[in-house]
Amino acid sequence: MLKKLAIFASGSGSNAENICNYFAESSNVEVVLICTNKQDALIVKRAKKLNIPVLVFTKYELNNFIDLHKKLQSIGVDVVILAGFLLKVPSKMIDSYPNRIINIHPSLLPKYGGKGMYGNNIHKAVIENKETESGISIHFVNQNYDEGELILQERCAISSNESVETLTQKIRELEYAYFPSAIEKTIKELSN
Ligand code: GAR
Repeated sequence: MLKKLAIFASGSGSNAENICNYFAESSNVEVVLICTNKQDALIVKRAKKLNIPVLVFTKYELNNFIDLHKKLQSIGVDVVILAGFLLKVPSKMIDSYPNRIINIHPSLLPKYGGKGMYGNNIHKAVIENKETESGISIHFVNQNYDEGELILQERCAISSNESVETLTQKIRELEYAYFPSAIEKTIKELSN
C-alpha cells in the first residue's frame, strides 16, 4: 500500500530534496508535504521547485500540535522524516506517530548528540577531539533528543588533515547515499 511521507526540515533541505528525487518514481512511497519552521529557509524554494506543498509553522504551533496534527491526518501522512529539522519534536507528536518518525544525525550516536549538537558544531568537536572516525546515524525519534532506536549507522575515516569542510562533504555523501534507502527499507518493514 502507498505510504505517505512528510519531511520536516529547517535549513537548506538538500537531504529533503534528495529523498523527494529518490521516491519521485516510486509507487510505494510518496512525499506529500514538506514542513518547516523557517519561512525563508532554502528548503521552501526547493519544495516549490519540486512541486511539493509546503507547510510553515511556528514553534508554538509545533508544540501545541493540534492544527499541525489535523493537517498531517487530513492528507494521510503515515511517516515523518526529520532531515535537518532543528526543533525538538513534542511528546504529543511522538505519541501520535510511534516508531513512525525517523531522524538523521551527522555523527555516530550516542557520540556528539543532544542539545547544541548540529551541523558544523558536531564536525568541529569531532576533529578537535581527534576522533579517528565519524559518520551518520539514522534512528527512530523518541522522547529523548538523539536517543531513539538506531536504524542504520555508516562510517567514514577522519584523516590527519581533516577540516570541517572536508568532513561535512564526507558526511553529506553518506547521507545522500544511505538515507533514502534506509527510509524505504524501514517503511517496508513497518508495513509487514
Ligand atoms: C544534515 O547534515 C543533517 O544530518 C543535520 O542537518 C543537516 C541538514 O542538511 N541534522 C542535524 O544536525 C540534526 N541534529 P540539509 O538541510 O542540507 O539536508
